[in-house]
Amino acid sequence: MPVITAPLEFNEEQLYVDLESMFGYPLFLKCEGFNFAGSIKLKAAIEMVTSAEQSGLVTEDTILVESSSGNLGVALALIAASRGFQFLCVTDTRCNLSTRRLIEALGSRVHIISEPHPERGFLGARLDYVHSLCASDSRYVWLNQYANPSNWAAHYRTTGPAIAHQFPNLDARFIGTGTTGTLMGCARYFRELDRPVRIVAVDSVGSVTFGGGPGRRMIPGIGTSVRPPMLDESFVDDVVMVEEVDTIRACHQMARNGFLFGGSTGTVVSGAMDWLAHHGAPGTNSVAIAPDLGERYLDTLYQTNWLQGLYGEDVLNVAEIAAAGVRPE
Ligand SMILES: Cc1ncc(COP(=O)(O)O)c(C=O)c1O
Repeated sequence: MPVITAPLEFNEEQLYVDLESMFGYPLFLKCEGFNFAGSIKLKAAIEMVTSAEQSGLVTEDTILVESSSGNLGVALALIAASRGFQFLCVTDTRCNLSTRRLIEALGSRVHIISEPHPERGFLGARLDYVHSLCASDSRYVWLNQYANPSNWAAHYRTTGPAIAHQFPNLDARFIGTGTTGTLMGCARYFRELDRPVRIVAVDSVGSVTFGGGPGRRMIPGIGTSVRPPMLDESFVDDVVMVEEVDTIRACHQMARNGFLFGGSTGTVVSGAMDWLAHHGAPGTNSVAIAPDLGERYLDTLYQTNWLQGLYGEDVLNVAEIAAAGVRPE
């Protein structure tokens, strides 16, 4: 029986959902949403804060500040509450309301950026705001998840080994990309293991991470409008770009089977199924990562008006068709 005294002490590392009966291709989905922050970002947050504390960057007066689409913000708010420091999360209007409320309930502050930068989008505007805060007051310390090596190191130390241990004969790994911390940490770990695993990055159409043009993206956590500095494409074997409508379809298909996941899980599952349809032989051993669960998306991804307003009347029909197990052309 696990008994804990601090919220960071618990994380479910060994839960997988077998998606083959739902989607027709062999894929194990590693669930990273079962901890008190509700997402995979708890790992990066712990590693970044611990290394900042060890290097003396964080003192009693420190106000941590971070740009986040939401999940890292919740994880940092939880650590701030547990370890007794202040935290300010800089996010934008796409952040779910419940995520924002969660950060505030944990005792941290949230600043919402409502206007995107004309070229560098919402992320560019968020980063500019963080820079100006840090320049205005030396108590602000920015962990910079986009370039901080502790972000990817968290996955090199935990997520990569956990998967390698459970799947010694893995053929392919599918990883959704935001900062690319999960991707780079896992990819580096598998490269050093020297096993023939294909590393497949999954991103949203409209993200600039892998060189595509910028476009509207409404699903938080995945994709960027500024290329992440920690990405090293020499570790990536393939990239799959997914339309948001396909993300929604995959999310609703899983929900109809009782598994309510967050948006980026739909993206990675849709991208993985696409890749497997083109490359996967029967018996392929593959794993994808589900960064969080779906409850924080009830007012967006799982809400009819939100979906129809953004993606058109037919979006739910598409989801319905998919839920019935028929992939429309
Ligand atoms: C829901 C969700 N999915 C995927 C990611 C991407 O993870 P990473 O930043 O490690 O690339 C994030 C990161 O914030 C996220 O919140």
